Amino acid sequence: MPAHDVSPLEGKFLYLLAKIKGAKRILEIGTLGAYSTIWFAKALPVDGRIITLEYDEKHAIVAKENIEKSSYQSQIELIQGRARSSLENLIAQKVSPFDLIFIDADKASNPEYLVLVLQLAKSGTVIVGDNVVRNGEIINSFSEDPSVVGIRRYIEGLDHVQHELESTVLQTVGIKGYDGFSISVVR
Ligand code: SAH
Ligand code: DHB
Ligand code: MG
Repeated sequence: MPAHDVSPLEGKFLYLLAKIKGAKRILEIGTLGAYSTIWFAKALPVDGRIITLEYDEKHAIVAKENIEKSSYQSQIELIQGRARSSLENLIAQKVSPFDLIFIDADKASNPEYLVLVLQLAKSGTVIVGDNVVRNGEIINSFSEDPSVVGIRRYIEGLDHVQHELESTVLQTVGIKGYDGFSISVVR
């Protein structure tokens, strides 16, 4: 498993954000071992729910094991498959909008995820993007790293939909190095 889970302090931050929001429905793109998933689940009221999307079969198996060991199994739904098609399915199913959405999968797809998650949001929905600073690499406009390009386009996307979203970027430093979160709220 890649060590790409959020740090404990970041997990607590996400948990607090979900609590402050009073989120009852959370959507996560990128489960890995369900570490951030379980932080979010802890913040849910008893009738709350988190749907988490994961492509990698091996990661999904580990995530399921961790979810079963947690006390939040009944509140977590893991959907295995490419996030893009899972999101399209959720949109087609007209599921209720989410209160909080965490985007943390393949960063190259972030611009696409932004367009899709806006269709699963409502006024007041909080959208958080992980890894938007990447050791400062994000300001390297010459970077050809698909993750950096994806995040740069994602942040431009946040700017382009200013009529729909209010956004900022918060830089973080800690045991996972220097990185950051984008935080947006739907108008
Ligand atoms: N949110 C997790 C970390 C996620 S790491 C935590 O903080 O604990 C990113 C995950 O996204 C990896 O498990 C990777 O397999 C998954 N991923 C990558 N591309 C994906 C895609 N197209 N659809 C769904 N998941 C994807
Ligand atoms: C990477 C991805 C992540 O989601 C993360 O939190 C840290 C690193 C990466 O792809 O390098
Ligand atoms: Mg991440």
